[in-house]
Amino acid sequence: MTPEPPLALLAELTHRCPLRCPYCSNPTALTGSSDELDTATWSRVFAEAAALGCLQVHLSGGEPTARRDIADLVRAASSAGLYTNLITAGVLLDAPKLAALAAAGLDHVQLSVQDAEAVGGDRIGGFAGGHAKKLVAARLIREAGLPLTLNAVVHRQNLGNLPAIIELALALGAGRLEVAHVQYYGWALANRAALLPTRAQLEAATAIVEAARAAHRGRLVIDYVVPDYHAQRPKACMGGWGRRFLAVSPAGRILPCHAAETIPGMAYPTVRETSLREAWYGSPAFARFRGTGWMPAPCQGCERAEQDWGGCRCQAFALTGDAGATDPACALSPHHTLLAEAVADAAVAEAGFTYRQ
Ligand code: SF4
Ligand code: FES
Repeated sequence: MTPEPPLALLAELTHRCPLRCPYCSNPTALTGSSDELDTATWSRVFAEAAALGCLQVHLSGGEPTARRDIADLVRAASSAGLYTNLITAGVLLDAPKLAALAAAGLDHVQLSVQDAEAVGGDRIGGFAGGHAKKLVAARLIREAGLPLTLNAVVHRQNLGNLPAIIELALALGAGRLEVAHVQYYGWALANRAALLPTRAQLEAATAIVEAARAAHRGRLVIDYVVPDYHAQRPKACMGGWGRRFLAVSPAGRILPCHAAETIPGMAYPTVRETSLREAWYGSPAFARFRGTGWMPAPCQGCERAEQDWGGCRCQAFALTGDAGATDPACALSPHHTLLAEAVADAAVAEAGFTYRQ
């Protein structure tokens, strides 16, 4: 069956970033700036994405504003007809840069915070003074007339501040707050023992989110991404492999998800040689886990097969060594006990982080 066109492109413009978050989902080996795609190539990629049917582009990284041509890239994506969303840590933003981005057609900004206050935020992000710069950036984003979403990645070491994070989102004028528990790929897997929450923490956080949603309805929308490690069934990662999204890495690899290069033995096409259309409809790598035909037992015939699409391929590989296995987040997976063991190990682990150098 011919796949439907993708809805959105995740454009990973660079791996460069001034922060060093211990849960970074970028690969452990990063692309250097000399290997990044140039402005003209990204502009062609945005045009190809729009022609393919994408409605949105998420301009991400690393830190996308580390690119000097970021306003040109926004202009190219906007001119192609894409809704442009900048996903930023905010510490490199100033008023002239934001004015240039807004003038270039930027539609929306997602700003990350690592905690509700500076001591925790700067420690977790590994960047002294970063939290204060984020507060300034949030004000400038709103003054530029841009809608703001606050992204808070939560884990064992900041969940206690969740009520204050919600208050911060309100105070900064965010229309949306994304509370996302860490997903354990890339660098996050190396720090899993320091980050995994307990079940009691998770339950408390879920209750706090539900209460805040009710209290702030009409003023703040709260998205909540729960952690797989306490789940009984997995999430439909990326809406299913090769179904809704495609990503392009800083070096130009065309990927079904941002972490897909962690799976060995997959030949992903590159924008230097292949159009997004050819990749989406013709690449064996995109077809490999698309739909349900590839699924092993117990997914084959499962009533949720077309809801969660077997969960996350990158997590299945990271935990079992087999990207074609049922996601261990599913209680029906023969590997499900791995998650409970990781939670138990984390409960007695040291809280120190391993940062990228
Ligand atoms: Fe989803 Fe497979 Fe688990 Fe069924 S068996 S719930 S399809 S992961
Ligand atoms: Fe790659 Fe889930 S992160 S499939």
